[in-house]
Amino acid sequence: MKTIAVLTSGGDSPGMNAALRAVVRTAYSLDFEVYAISHGYKGLIEGNMKKVTSNDVSNVIQRGGTVLKSARCEEFRTEEGRAKAAKVLQNNNIDALVAIGGDGTFQGAALLSKEHNINVVGIPATIDNDLVGTDETIGYDTALNTAMEAIDKIRDTADAHDRLFLVEVMGRDAGFIALETGIAGGAELILLPEFLTDIDDVKKSLNEVLSAQRRSSLVIVAEGDETGGAIKLSEQLQPEFSKYEMRVCILGHIQRGGNPTARDRVLASRLGSAAVKVLAEGHSDVMVGIVNSKMKITPLKMTFGKKKDINFDLLELSKILR
Ligand code: F6P
Repeated sequence: MKTIAVLTSGGDSPGMNAALRAVVRTAYSLDFEVYAISHGYKGLIEGNMKKVTSNDVSNVIQRGGTVLKSARCEEFRTEEGRAKAAKVLQNNNIDALVAIGGDGTFQGAALLSKEHNINVVGIPATIDNDLVGTDETIGYDTALNTAMEAIDKIRDTADAHDRLFLVEVMGRDAGFIALETGIAGGAELILLPEFLTDIDDVKKSLNEVLSAQRRSSLVIVAEGDETGGAIKLSEQLQPEFSKYEMRVCILGHIQRGGNPTARDRVLASRLGSAAVKVLAEGHSDVMVGIVNSKMKITPLKMTFGKKKDINFDLLELSKILR
């Protein structure tokens, strides 16, 4: 192993830059060379890459987004696209690829490894926290804190006007952000994609909460919830709850950006460094993660092939505390 390449792919998440920095600096500490690929798999297919040194990743640890840029690449989903990508790596004598991203990124990396025998290692970075093999993904903690701060502000208005707010948070297929921001923001009700949402149960719970004379009420809805999100939910609730002033707020992409929290920077630094070390040890087709405070490697296909469990204790807690 002499030369590695690194890219970020899929949705950006805060801490991707800290992971990149750790990859580059650990690689140089082991006398490897590093190519940085721009715009994810799209850039790889186009050969959009340059050699970087430790100095090139100065002053990025605190920055959100990704200095490497990212993309969701349709061409890489095809065999032809992956064949082009493999050729670029082989022509540039690159021995391994470090892919920083989420489930889509890892599905692509696993196929590249299988079809073209390319050494790959994944670093889990997505605000959704939906990858098996790590307790937390890079960016999740920052997104949680961003959403929580927004919810606190909405609570002020909800309280001032005695309003019912339906707040939609990100999470296409996973309710991790909804569950933890719901608890941290003291939500009266939390709706997650992991469970079937019965609209009659939602109405019953809301009636219980509202009849307790609370001055404000917040419902946190994951975007992937069965109801179809906060707007559709409000349409279903409006007839029965018309005497309450109801408002919808979709937090959207503000949850994806921003400076990473200390926890995300440390996680990203540990995982970025571990990724290079496991490659140097001869592993491939794996993701590095941290489970119960210990470094763990998991075959890539396991990370996205199985659904990560929601913490049921937290869900029960949210019901007791509402
Ligand atoms: O996977 C991260 C995520 O932010 C999801 O929570 C959300 O559904 C999706 O990306 C949005 O993707 P895009 O920015 O491409 O619209």
